[in-house]
Amino acid sequence: MKVLLTGATGYIGRRLKERLIEDENIQLRLFVRNERKVRDKYRDQLEIYEGSTFDRESLRKALEAVDVAYYLIHSMGARGDFEKLDRLSAENFLGACIAENVQRIIYLGGLGRKETASKHLLSRIETGEILSSRPDSIQTIWFRAGIIIGSGSASFEIIRNLVQNLPLMITPRRVHTKTQPISVINVLEYLFQAKDLDTEKNLVVDIGSEQMSFKEMLLRASKIMGLRRILIPVPLLSPRLSSYWLILMTPVSYRIARALVEGLKSETVIQNDNAKRYFPRIFLLSYKDAIKAALADMEKNEVISRWCDSSAEEACDTKDQDRIEAAVFVDKKFYDFGEIPSEIIFASVQSIGGENGWFRYDWLWRLRGSTDKLVGGPGLNRGRRDPLTLRVGDSLDFWKIVDLKKDKRLLLFSQMKAPGKAWLEFSVDDTVLVQTVYFLPKGLWGRLYWYLIKPFYILIFSDLAKGIIKQAKALF
Ligand SMILES: NC(=O)c1ccc[n+]([C@@H]2O[C@H](COP(=O)([O-])OP(=O)(O)OC[C@H]3O[C@@H](n4cnc5c(N)ncnc54)[C@H](OP(=O)(O)O)[C@@H]3O)[C@@H](O)[C@H]2O)c1
Repeated sequence: MKVLLTGATGYIGRRLKERLIEDENIQLRLFVRNERKVRDKYRDQLEIYEGSTFDRESLRKALEAVDVAYYLIHSMGARGDFEKLDRLSAENFLGACIAENVQRIIYLGGLGRKETASKHLLSRIETGEILSSRPDSIQTIWFRAGIIIGSGSASFEIIRNLVQNLPLMITPRRVHTKTQPISVINVLEYLFQAKDLDTEKNLVVDIGSEQMSFKEMLLRASKIMGLRRILIPVPLLSPRLSSYWLILMTPVSYRIARALVEGLKSETVIQNDNAKRYFPRIFLLSYKDAIKAALADMEKNEVISRWCDSSAEEACDTKDQDRIEAAVFVDKKFYDFGEIPSEIIFASVQSIGGENGWFRYDWLWRLRGSTDKLVGGPGLNRGRRDPLTLRVGDSLDFWKIVDLKKDKRLLLFSQMKAPGKAWLEFSVDDTVLVQTVYFLPKGLWGRLYWYLIKPFYILIFSDLAKGIIKQAKALF
């Protein structure tokens, strides 16, 4: 069976890829926007096709000779009208699948009723409807999940951070709304088994574990984490205020926080029993076990994917995000590291940021991160996926990794709100660490901004390079 996986660089797709790769009965092909986001260790085991669902020709090529195609794409992070983009993306995908004689589409969307759905959920429903609209030509299995609990998932990160940071939580009244969370382990099992399902008709399969309110979800999580927490629902907390509160207290962006708060409007509980009927052998993990599994992944540093892996706002979704040649201001500095082996220097480069911090001026980075968060940027609290290693596509505080060449080069692209584009590059050359800052200003204000921040960044970046070498020396 030839299987095409789209969204393979996203939260669900990255995990499903690891599951599918273990299946010897399938040939796996990935459809990605930026090939470099797929780690080298898999290169021999799969085919990689680069393209976008907005480029029909690339889609058609990727779908050639494919039997089953997974659709794990959404445009929520993109600029502009995401509903329109989602519609077009699904239409293109369906058309190309039919043209290439694909037998089955498997799609994962959101749980909830159309009448009370948020804009985000409505778009997910519309995508499912489009993909299922040609049962005469192609079968579609449409899974619908609500809150997904797994290490690095947006919902889990919100729950974990709220519980950890707030002994007393003021919440909107809608925390009484019912939901039916599910472990990401189960989600992957449904998606995995769906490719072999013995039925030819279209299916909508609602998936979820125990029913509970959002309030219960938070209280149960606090118990599992060994913390006593009090929740006070108040009527005055508007969706906007609640979203701002979430972005201050958790790592998620305003866009995700708002989608979640809007989602509180409607119940997200299962509406059919197709999961039991068609997948009777899947054993559902309880909410408690789902939280425990997610926490264990974090403790073992085994977080495969995170909510911020996909390329919201264009960073890294194409190959050319490393076009540093476009920069107007370039500041290059050389730091000799003597006898320390270059791989140790690079290991030290790779460990910057997140909980590892930014050396002496960590407080200045935090200050800049907080101001960024206040104006709608990612700030510093996205942290890092893994304390030691990085990969292209990883978020690292307000940076995104856009290029990584083992022991040679690390290129970070800033996703901070600023009047221009900025990159930070480290390259290891013989016995010298070269650190370069690139800036492409946007208009006059961009140039002014560069000159304004220059004294700070000279201080911060020279300390950063020295800190990296000092840390490497300690490891040597
Ligand atoms: N995660 C959850 O908690 C959750 C819960 C319920 C349902 N779901 C559903 O599960 C599905 C997958 O969600 P996710 O969380 O895994 O999403 P995600 O992390 O945001 O990943 C989206 C993926 O789509 C790719 N993509 C976006 N636009 C594309 C385009 N035009 N052409 C090709 N690829 C494109 C992205 O590539 P880049 O890496 O290049 O950006 C990325 O790989 C969605 O339908 C979502 O509604 C997710």
